[in-house]
Amino acid sequence: EEPPGAEPYRPQFHFSPARNWMNDPNGLVHYDGEYHLFFQYNPEGNTWGNMSWGHAVSRDLVHWEELPLALPHDEREMVFSGSVVVDRENTSGFGSPENPAMVAVYTSHAKDGSRQAQSLAYSTDRGRTWTKYAGNPVLDIGARDFRDPKVQWHEPSRSWLMTVALPLEHKVRFYRSPDLRQWTELSDFGPAGAVDGVWECPDLFPMQVDGDPERTKWVLVVNLNPGGIAGGSGAQYFVGDFDGTRFTADPDQGTRWLDHGKDYYAAVSWDGDPEGRRHMIGWMNNWQYGEQIPTDPWRSAMSVPRTMGLGTVDGRPTLTQQPVAALDSLRLPDPVAVREVDVPEGSQPLAEGRGDGRTLDIEARFSPGDAEHFGLELRAGDGQKTVVGYDAAAGEVYVDRTHSGDTGFSPDFPGTQRAPLAVRDGEVRLRILLDASSVEVFGGAGESVLTDQIFPGAPEGVRLFAEGGTARLKSLDLHRLGTYRP
Ligand code: FRU
Repeated sequence: EEPPGAEPYRPQFHFSPARNWMNDPNGLVHYDGEYHLFFQYNPEGNTWGNMSWGHAVSRDLVHWEELPLALPHDEREMVFSGSVVVDRENTSGFGSPENPAMVAVYTSHAKDGSRQAQSLAYSTDRGRTWTKYAGNPVLDIGARDFRDPKVQWHEPSRSWLMTVALPLEHKVRFYRSPDLRQWTELSDFGPAGAVDGVWECPDLFPMQVDGDPERTKWVLVVNLNPGGIAGGSGAQYFVGDFDGTRFTADPDQGTRWLDHGKDYYAAVSWDGDPEGRRHMIGWMNNWQYGEQIPTDPWRSAMSVPRTMGLGTVDGRPTLTQQPVAALDSLRLPDPVAVREVDVPEGSQPLAEGRGDGRTLDIEARFSPGDAEHFGLELRAGDGQKTVVGYDAAAGEVYVDRTHSGDTGFSPDFPGTQRAPLAVRDGEVRLRILLDASSVEVFGGAGESVLTDQIFPGAPEGVRLFAEGGTARLKSLDLHRLGTYRP
């Protein structure tokens, strides 16, 4: 077995567990200087099963330290997805005001498959050791499918607010509690938007529109599987208002997607950010082929954490995403800068090959000129390439991983994913993060995002291409990224 740094597909700046299967991010909370990342984890194998909560911590959302298992499955239950809150006023009685408890609210999935209900566990040592509450479950409606509670403190009602999925009914239900133990039903939202699959892993958070403190909207995230925009698992969202009891979506939104790639699921946000920011992370995989991806002894990575905004795009509040700013701390010396060059029809290496690599952070501004398609080819060579392109006629940014390397493990893997992206001020702006087995594309101001896994062979080339005419590369800044791994 190779050390985690040397395995060819091992992510270098995305979190992955040293070994075994991982799915959804869970329990995202900031406490005492640490961002916690819990995750759905099989401590005993490299496919889904024995679901428990794994654990990692970070001070900057970039450098992660994997910690021992937090919440194990037991003879009765698997520990499904959920959230963690810091109980500062000790409403639950599990800690004290001087040493607040971290309280996990998770779904107890009965091992015989008969029941899902919401349960508690608590820690009074900064999340290092956990105790399951003896009175579990705390919320049981007798349903077989009822999961993924996201709990937050709701200051106007001075109570805890739970957002939880009724997956088969395509509903999100809200509950309120004074103490995390007794829960009162408030209201339902849905069906709405995309419903061609089960609703899972909801999240609800307020955002200021265009950073204006006088204009707050609420964003309801609902993950969906299958029925996502790119096939299989996907994350949709609704913008609206929350009055403490009920979420009302703004009218005529259609279906809106957090990410148009195939590998961004179970996306949820951190609670309690010290700077009041909203960061999200997703499982960088898809239930269509998640257990078949060719990695060993681990399976799955998380996306890069993303700092969210709610900006006015085409006249309506729209979620925008950018990689967390601290990612810049991994940039290595000697960036490549290219300015004002024509990209004629065909494909050519970027800057005499100086930009080649397998962990890259690229910022590019193109003007389309008369080209029909243009962009970058990554991990290019030996007949392989991952294309990040712009389709001028369609007004779409796309990732084509058809020839990206190993694609044969599932018929659902090869293909092209597309996201609408307007040319603004004559330019197409792209930020591209390339890791050993993934590419993430942030278009425009971050209103169009695509996340895709890739499993390339040895080539590390970066090439420019255009089809049907000549495009112009106005600027390109490329940084190699180091690793967070010790
Ligand atoms: C989403 C999901 C959740 C569930 C967990 C089980 O990927 O199905 O709804 O809690 O995974 O691992």
